[in-house]
Amino acid sequence: MCGIVGYVGPQQAQHVVVEGLRRLEYRGYDSAGVALVVPDGTGPGRIAEAKKAGKLANLEKVVADSPLPASHTGIGHTRWATHGAPNDVNAHPHLGHERRVALVHNGIIENFAELRSRLEADDHVLVSETDTEVVAHLVELQVQSGVDLTTAMQRVCLVLEGAFTLVAIDAHDPERVVAARRNSPLVVGVGEGEHFLGSDVAAFIEHTREALELGQDQVVCITRDGVEITDFRGRPAEGRRYHVDWDLSAAEKDGHDWFMRKEIFEQPKAVADSLLGRRTQHGLLQLDEMRLSDDEIRDIDKIIIIACGTSFYAGMVAKYAIEHWTRIPVEVELSSEFRYRDPILDHSTLVVAISQSGETADTLQAIRHARTQRSRVLAICNTNGSTIPRESDAVIYTHAGPEIGVASTKGFLTQLVACYLLALYVAQVKGTRYGDEIDQIMGQLEAIPEQIETVLAGAQQVYDLAAEHTGARSVLFLGRHAGYPVALEGALKLKELAYLHAEGFAAGELKHGPIALVEEGLPVLCVVPPRGRDQLHEKMISGIQEVRARGARTICLAEEGDTKIEPYADVLVRLPQVPVLLQPLVATIPLQLFACELATLLGHDVDQPRNLAKSVTVE
Ligand code: G6P
Repeated sequence: MCGIVGYVGPQQAQHVVVEGLRRLEYRGYDSAGVALVVPDGTGPGRIAEAKKAGKLANLEKVVADSPLPASHTGIGHTRWATHGAPNDVNAHPHLGHERRVALVHNGIIENFAELRSRLEADDHVLVSETDTEVVAHLVELQVQSGVDLTTAMQRVCLVLEGAFTLVAIDAHDPERVVAARRNSPLVVGVGEGEHFLGSDVAAFIEHTREALELGQDQVVCITRDGVEITDFRGRPAEGRRYHVDWDLSAAEKDGHDWFMRKEIFEQPKAVADSLLGRRTQHGLLQLDEMRLSDDEIRDIDKIIIIACGTSFYAGMVAKYAIEHWTRIPVEVELSSEFRYRDPILDHSTLVVAISQSGETADTLQAIRHARTQRSRVLAICNTNGSTIPRESDAVIYTHAGPEIGVASTKGFLTQLVACYLLALYVAQVKGTRYGDEIDQIMGQLEAIPEQIETVLAGAQQVYDLAAEHTGARSVLFLGRHAGYPVALEGALKLKELAYLHAEGFAAGELKHGPIALVEEGLPVLCVVPPRGRDQLHEKMISGIQEVRARGARTICLAEEGDTKIEPYADVLVRLPQVPVLLQPLVATIPLQLFACELATLLGHDVDQPRNLAKSVTVE
């Protein structure tokens, strides 16, 4: 997730801003930049800026080679690319047409394409591919019309759609930094004769521990001596004041003990962000980065999904959705197996490569092979500019933000979202689903972030459950249909983090072997499908009965209102009601929480489990 810093006060702004960016490095980024207001004793000041792709050290080299002038007001940014590749030009800050306003941004402006064409029609030259530059131009137009930077920001926010934290400076107004937020974090650091802005408190914790959290849809103006908060219409508003008593490491994790736990709790936002900007004004699904023509999509007669680890399980869920909505046959295969079995591929096969990092060697080799066979490759990836999307014909980026915990969580959920979007998009193009059906499913997807919140609100029940199982030697996971990959993912998480023997099974397969493993007291986590479709629910209950009869302790994840499951569940964890195909988006969460908590209680390093790497770049 991008890091944002703002400063106004007596210190050298460049120093404070770059140090703040360093404190935010943990968030992950691909480029960095800084902009300062340089006052001119007599006339209006000017903006001085420097930005560079790569690590902060690259930016520091730039400013060491050509130092920026002294200044007491500045902003900075570490970028995690969403719109546009991670290069120097797309790095933030972005400037307005006349270089009067500089602005940094975290989030996604959904209607940027429309705003950009309007600016271009008015002869504005936009040099980057970002959505951010559009906002810099718009804010500058406002200040040029005579209003102050705060009013300019308020007015512009009213026309923006999407999620954003924006921070801007105006060359003609050297004493203030103005910021705004909607669905994206922003905190003010309150100092003595100086103020700070940050995407989180880590940005300024070495200067002050007094913080002010901005509410939704608010604008803040900081000066040396004051903080003024309003809503987007200019009405006075208030932030939430608090004292930060975390150390730096806890601050980076937003008060959580692990990045993984933080990332689990970020999932409502990650899912919401991955859904942003996917519909046109007329309600049609659009996938900007798709780069496959409608004709190419109509030609597809087979889809092969390749991936590793958790991404592979996302692919397994995708198979259910794609086949159901598009009627195109789908195979899912581990990248490492696919490459070496001489798969049957041709130009009408679409190969979908799912990879959070975009660098997994097995998946990379697999796509290279597929392309030599004339198949088209679409990547689903969380890392803009990484190798797999670069070597693919098309890409759908997930918007999880950088994932730091080695075990994937928000990466997985956003991959699921991207797979659903792909399936619905193909269904739209091929006409295998009516528009109103697609609309209905999109509505169900858009409701998911709130439903994830309700699951997260019940985390304590799962933590208590983990505490009861610190002595377990083995745990089984059962699922059916789209719940089967969820069971596999639950087991993988437990293996990765708690180093416990854990296995996931398709519930129907139990009686063909795995049931022999069941003994008195064995914990079996069961992902119960929603009621009312194809007898899935009844069949699952039979499986649960079978293990329970043999002494297993059944921990059932079942939807609200499902009373039939009650007699068969030793423990019942409730899930919100969602359609069976979308259930993985909510059912995975208690399993992530369970593994994270159990590993914590066992004293393991949750973020860096033994023997594992976040990105495996060797075959
Ligand atoms: C490694 C990670 C897993 C991840 C897998 C695939 O094994 O530890 O968490 O699921 O790689 O990574 P990718 O970046 O291709 O999704």
